[in-house]
Amino acid sequence: MKSAILMAAGKGTRMQSDLPKVMHKVCQKTMVEHLIDTVKQAGAEKVVTVVGYGHEVIEKAMEGKTEFALQEPQLGTGHAVMQAKQCEHVQGETLVVNGDCPCLTADTFEELYQEVKDAKMVVLTAILDDPSAYGRIIRDENGFIQRIIEFKDCTEDEKKINEINTGIYAFDNETLFSNLKDIQNNNAQSEYYITDLVEILNKKGLKVKAVVAKDNEEVAGVNDKYELARANQEMQKRINKEWMKKGVTMINPDATYIGADVKLEAEVILYPNVYLEGNTTVQRGTTILPQSFLDNAIIGKDCVIDSSRITDSEVKDNCTVGPFAHLRMHSVVESKNRIGNFVEFKNTNFGFDSRCAHLTYIGDSDIGSKVNIGCGVVTVNYDGKNKFRTVVKDGAFIGSNVNLIAPLTVGENAVVAAGSTATEDVPDGDMAIGRCRQENKPGYGTKYKNK
Ligand code: UD1
Ligand code: CA
Repeated sequence: MKSAILMAAGKGTRMQSDLPKVMHKVCQKTMVEHLIDTVKQAGAEKVVTVVGYGHEVIEKAMEGKTEFALQEPQLGTGHAVMQAKQCEHVQGETLVVNGDCPCLTADTFEELYQEVKDAKMVVLTAILDDPSAYGRIIRDENGFIQRIIEFKDCTEDEKKINEINTGIYAFDNETLFSNLKDIQNNNAQSEYYITDLVEILNKKGLKVKAVVAKDNEEVAGVNDKYELARANQEMQKRINKEWMKKGVTMINPDATYIGADVKLEAEVILYPNVYLEGNTTVQRGTTILPQSFLDNAIIGKDCVIDSSRITDSEVKDNCTVGPFAHLRMHSVVESKNRIGNFVEFKNTNFGFDSRCAHLTYIGDSDIGSKVNIGCGVVTVNYDGKNKFRTVVKDGAFIGSNVNLIAPLTVGENAVVAAGSTATEDVPDGDMAIGRCRQENKPGYGTKYKNK
């Protein structure tokens, strides 16, 4: 069986945050969730996440996605793996992964699973121009790894080695667990290092293989907010490239932000400064113009969304939205609609082939099909304590500058005259006028001007 142990118990002091390090997000998905998903994609059937600092937060967020092992106190990476007791008697290959490498790919994990089949331990290494504080790799004359020396334990000469330990390993599971107990903590940090297994296995005549990472961006660890931003950029590049390969057009991919769980279709066109977050879906032929922010939005085919904000809402096929529209809280816009500038919908169903083109607030409403909502219409849905619904039936015409005071129903093909404040239901086919009758004062205009 293929297993994976994710080490995520550390606080991540350099993040300067109360949140455990692995709960920070890269492309709107936590680092730990990225890893869980990626190891599963590579074939891991059993995933154990070792948690410690802030474990309640991680356990709550990842419930059902992984098993957990508690490490308290945190005495090093070797000690972390010792806590994953669920894996102790499993046969097969086991990945051990630093929890702070969100950009790792399933291809890399698959390669490690493959390579460990004829070895007992494989280490993913990287060659860096600036190996900074990473552990250094010492190879023997045949290219196998002899030792990994932590930076803090390195001599000046060893610090010059530029092949480093990425903190990603694959083991024969039985070899891993039968040798863990031999790890000692007599080092600069008095910690139990997982990396000591290299020497322990060498002493038993077992070879430790190195796999050199093909892409250093992929294996970069995240230790502070700068590295978090770097990981975001790397992940964003990759997500955008994947969608472009699947037929999405991006005018400027460097300024297009797409979350890890977003789904797009071919022939979608994304302009710069578009943010797609959460479980947003955009279907074929839709164009999203600049300055649009969509979070958990479902957008149908052949729509145009311009400079708008759409959250937890759905827009069906052949609609235009915006510029500057705001659709929120489970609003649903049926197909063939036009939602224009400065229009807000909250918790509203808006029927097929209707219009709401300018300066309007529609909240808690059910609007039928072929309805025209004039400019400046307001549903007055809140009395300061309770919210009420407004219903406008098929074919109704709501004139400009109308207040619909909910609860209120406007019947089929009914008309509410411009400027009205409607407080009572309007029967099917009737017209409501609720405004003061106009009075004209002859000559007063001229008189006023000449004053
Ligand atoms: C580790 C490696 C180092 C490697 C580097 C790559 C060891 C001894 N060293 O060092 O060779 O170059 O990663 O980034 O393994 N963790 C626990 N429990 C602990 C300690 C750590 O779960 O008791 C987790 C952390 O949450 C983190 C990961 O293990 O996700 C790595 O820990 P960190 O302290 O960052 O290790 P490094 O010192 O960077
Ligand atoms: Ca680290």
